[in-house]
Amino acid sequence: MNEQRLGSRMRYGYFDDINREYVIERPDIPVSWTNYLGVKDFCTVISHNAGGYSFCRSTEHHRITRFRQNGVPLDRPGHYVYLRDDETGEYWSLSWQPVGKDFTKAKYICRHGLSYSRFQCNYQQIEAEQLLFVPLEDDVELWDVRIRNRGTKPRKLSVFSYLEFSFHHVEIDNQNLQMSLYAAGSNYSDGIIEYDFFYEPWSYHFFASNFQPDSYDCVRDKFIGNYRTETNPIAVERGTCGNSTDLGGNHCGSLHKKLELKPGEEMRMIFMLGVGSREEKGLDVRLKFSNLNNVDSAFDDLKKYWDKKESVLQCKTPNQGFNSMVNTWNLYQAETCVVWSRFASFIEVGGRVGLGYRDTSQDVMAVPHTSPDKVKERMIELLHGQVSRGYGLHLFDPEVFKPVEDKLPGVKLPTVVPSPNPSDIIHGMDSVCSDDALWIVASVCEYVMETGNAEFFDQVIPFADAGEGSVYEHLKRSLDFTAEQTAANGICFGLRADWNDCLNLGGGQSAMVSFMHFWALRYFVDAAKFLGRENDFKKYSEMAEKVRTAIERELWDGEWYARGVTKAGIKIGVKANEEGKIFLESNSWAGLSGAASPERACSAMDAVHKYLASPYGIHLNWPVFTKPNDDIGYVTRVYPGLKENGSIFNHPNPWAVIAECKLGRGALAMKLHDALLPYNQNDMIEIREAEPYSYCQFVIGRDHPSYGRARHPWLTGSAGWSYTAATKYILGIRPSYTGLVIDPCIPAGWKEFEVQRRWRGATYNVKVKNPDGVEKGVRILKLNGEIINGQIPVQGVGSVNEVEVTMGKVTQSKTGKKPVTAKGVSEGATSGHT
Ligand code: NOJ
Repeated sequence: MNEQRLGSRMRYGYFDDINREYVIERPDIPVSWTNYLGVKDFCTVISHNAGGYSFCRSTEHHRITRFRQNGVPLDRPGHYVYLRDDETGEYWSLSWQPVGKDFTKAKYICRHGLSYSRFQCNYQQIEAEQLLFVPLEDDVELWDVRIRNRGTKPRKLSVFSYLEFSFHHVEIDNQNLQMSLYAAGSNYSDGIIEYDFFYEPWSYHFFASNFQPDSYDCVRDKFIGNYRTETNPIAVERGTCGNSTDLGGNHCGSLHKKLELKPGEEMRMIFMLGVGSREEKGLDVRLKFSNLNNVDSAFDDLKKYWDKKESVLQCKTPNQGFNSMVNTWNLYQAETCVVWSRFASFIEVGGRVGLGYRDTSQDVMAVPHTSPDKVKERMIELLHGQVSRGYGLHLFDPEVFKPVEDKLPGVKLPTVVPSPNPSDIIHGMDSVCSDDALWIVASVCEYVMETGNAEFFDQVIPFADAGEGSVYEHLKRSLDFTAEQTAANGICFGLRADWNDCLNLGGGQSAMVSFMHFWALRYFVDAAKFLGRENDFKKYSEMAEKVRTAIERELWDGEWYARGVTKAGIKIGVKANEEGKIFLESNSWAGLSGAASPERACSAMDAVHKYLASPYGIHLNWPVFTKPNDDIGYVTRVYPGLKENGSIFNHPNPWAVIAECKLGRGALAMKLHDALLPYNQNDMIEIREAEPYSYCQFVIGRDHPSYGRARHPWLTGSAGWSYTAATKYILGIRPSYTGLVIDPCIPAGWKEFEVQRRWRGATYNVKVKNPDGVEKGVRILKLNGEIINGQIPVQGVGSVNEVEVTMGKVTQSKTGKKPVTAKGVSEGATSGHT
């Protein structure tokens, strides 16, 4: 067996930074390690065993292939290629599963790359690989398969593809078989399998290849055989498919080809899974991708797409894990969240669609530098999902607001065709989360600071219910709504929940939302100042000050900040409580928002280190809840150590990193950052289990027997926030409206680091030296050899600029303890404690 046990530690693969791939060397991982193919409409979520499913645009309404979620065996079915030795009858698959050969005899490698996955297999001197990706411009998944004879004898082989089609609508596929099993059919001609939906005559999928198949199967159970599984399909065992098609039933795509390979000879085959009918799409796509040059250039374009994005910010620091995550994986994950929000994974398998208001508002904040257009598009969708009173629709499908083209036949169809009606989705106050519409204030400002596109503030966008307003007006409504939803003591109401879905304080109060309100107000005040809107600057500055005063008056508990107040008037997150004495959210937001005094913010973070931190990251609360209390919320009914009840919830961890950076405590910031960093858990998969290249929703907390186990990778707010913490606050390079702020906060042991950053069309090669071993503070800043006081001014498009930064002691802050940042850091939300 390929021995990957390191003492008692286990690893299953490694980071290949040169190729930006994670290489899985042994496939028997305890859980599925997934990747995302497709960056626009067509998407496949695929595991390291080629298990997974595809959809186009909507996981709910436009499923292409089927997935048996939470299944046994793990992650089936998938997008598989089988090989059969036609002389011996032995067969195997190019991914370890589904056949599952003894991997001490067959060598398997899976390389998850940026929007592609490559499965490599070496068995009995046949070297084979299956590369899966979705070209940028076509709604088609390509399988680029290569088979080489590495032996000295000629070989006779059969190649079989296999995938299982899904009914178009996932709920019907899972729950209404009297419908799904009689409403979809398959047929074969011209080398193409076509899958059609009888009741939806406009819907088709196809599966094709670049060769003339020797046989095919479109009927799942004919290919697999009775009382068999994908592990031992009868067609592969027999050496030929049965040329099956059917009207009704379960359908698959299997194309079979016989090969003869001389010693050293290689054969390349392309399979294509696409959206549309044979006539309208299949024939053209088949023609296009039968030309191998088109396959190569599509893959090349995809590589360039990611190279371009990743090259916007690259860093070289003394921390290798930090570099790998920032330069490749963290950005990739953050981008993936913007495209698919929360509803396409092995955890959310298609029952919900659209955008989580708070989730996507936060996701977009992280990537305006790499995807400005997508970020803008998402923000417009989100602002359209804001009601005129100012709150956001908690979960909504932006499709609802798009014009419905009247191309469907005027008969009532038995299948579900989404015919959205905007008024159906406008919920009332009962479903309002108190944080939802505050995030977008920061997202819009970050977008404008990144792009310089200040006109965006004036773009007019409708409200979800009635009327319209400029983006600027939308932001005001968010802030005013929160001001209106404030109790007599000046602290914001908790409403249905705040960021923490499981804290349901209703008419009680949320400290986190008050901190957020202050933070969003500071963003807005900076914007108003930049735009010269004096009245708003004054009005919202005063509002921010009122919020800050209320926070300091009402929420300080002597050593840290309370988390809230129940509607019965009981404070939570305070020492006097028996359970839930301290929470991460309020105490990280104290520093992050800039609302707390530096002394209190420091004390709050000290308490976070003392009571909540662990080697795997920071717990959300302590002590865990064990007694149900519906005044506090659902959190009190969650098992201790899981999810919102005392797990190491990943999403708020970077808030603490940012708070430490704002306080100038670089070593502590890095300690927290490194504890959570998935990369650092690569060699302890016996504990972590989940992907080491992806942040997860949570790591199970110390009050649970599975302490350290990570769950729910990929689509989580931890991705964007970790990226923001690492790039804008540890590396400390962040745009303002008028310049680039250079304000690193690092461990004293970092003697130097470099960042290459593209901003508004110019390149900045930033070289930071830290001769005095400080954690924060810029002593000398030079742009192209000239000393600069303050921020780096915007440089010409296309220019390449050398930025030399010498860190060192600058001046002492009021407390006399903390170093201060470089002069000229913009005031307000982007600077916080300076
Ligand atoms: C996951 C949800 O998607 C997110 O909206 C929420 O903030 C966190 N859970 C915490 O409850």
